[in-house]
Amino acid sequence: MKRKLVSTFLSVAMAASLLVGCGGGSAPASSDTNTDTATETSTEAPADTATEEASTETTEAADTTASGGGKVGVAMPTKDLQRWNQDGDNMKKQLEDAGYEVDLQYASNDIATQVNQIENMISSGAQVLVIASIDGDSLGTVLEQAKEQGIQVIAYDRLIMNSDAVSYYATFDNYMVGTKQGEYIRDQLDLDNAAGPFNLEIVTGDPGDNNARFFYGGAIDVLQKYIDEGKLVVKSGQVEFDEVATANWATETAQSRMDAIISANYADGTKLDAVLCSNDSTALGVTNSLEANYTGDWPIITGQDCDIANVKNMIAGKQSMSIFKDTRTLAAKTVEMVDAIMKGTDAPVNDTETYDNGTGIIPSYLCEPVFADANNYKELLIDSGYYTEDQLQ
Ligand code: BGC
Repeated sequence: MKRKLVSTFLSVAMAASLLVGCGGGSAPASSDTNTDTATETSTEAPADTATEEASTETTEAADTTASGGGKVGVAMPTKDLQRWNQDGDNMKKQLEDAGYEVDLQYASNDIATQVNQIENMISSGAQVLVIASIDGDSLGTVLEQAKEQGIQVIAYDRLIMNSDAVSYYATFDNYMVGTKQGEYIRDQLDLDNAAGPFNLEIVTGDPGDNNARFFYGGAIDVLQKYIDEGKLVVKSGQVEFDEVATANWATETAQSRMDAIISANYADGTKLDAVLCSNDSTALGVTNSLEANYTGDWPIITGQDCDIANVKNMIAGKQSMSIFKDTRTLAAKTVEMVDAIMKGTDAPVNDTETYDNGTGIIPSYLCEPVFADANNYKELLIDSGYYTEDQLQ
């Protein structure tokens, strides 16, 4: 029933997913952060990202080329996942280059911390807020304050739900991310021709992140038919979104769930053919679990973000693909939105029907995700300057 609702909702998304990629990005700002852990308690992060305390970065727009300027608050969920560091770095650099003062904060995946940080941004004079929420449903009250003060809000990557303070949404086409993951499994297993049956397990993301339902919905809309036909068998029996969700997208949580699935279903040598993982932090957990517990032929494993640890796994044959979402282009698009708001003009959008946050449709700009694998990663990730070759060794 629940899935039916999601599917109905998502079929609108599908209709709207004929879109074009983001406008070009600017200087790469990738940082090699530790992706081996997925909780904020990590002590293994490299020096530049070691603590969240060190992650508060308010900068003056000292650049003499700065235009009129103004202050922009940028709230990111966590430093623990590599992509958010890149998002934050890219946004800060591009906003500063455009002449704005930037207050960039990371919240250790803690909702109360994020609410606090946004309150501080409001009281310290931010004119626009760019927010990648931890829990899309938890910012309604603080954003009322923003609205009262005429501060506009851009939801970054994740939609902020049930708040009419949100002016725009800048993201990747999240449904398309899931579709590409599902199609990858379909094509690799040749589901339309091979006899099967094949064993599949599913690991998706945090229930408080609206994106997780889109990723899951896009993938399941491709794969459900084969599950119904019996060509894909989910031996754990866990298929519904709530059964396959991973709180906080945590690597450790995905890993322990996979440990349990393997010991109950695959410990006797039964082959696991594919694991649909919605992103790289969950794929890492699944890979860790398989390495420790599974003796059969290695399954197809999907992912998303092209985090360094996962690209290394891809090169080593331990992860099959990852969706590449170039954070430089998302940052560039968001900076255009900020600029338009500051200048009192309309921001660029390319989707006005997919993302209803409970108060109405939020005008969105959807960037196009692409998939990376061992064959094309060099072109996508190294030649484009996203990573250096050294970072992937
Ligand atoms: C983002 C993904 C990311 C996940 C976990 C999602 O909202 O779109 O890129 O992997 O959150 O942080």
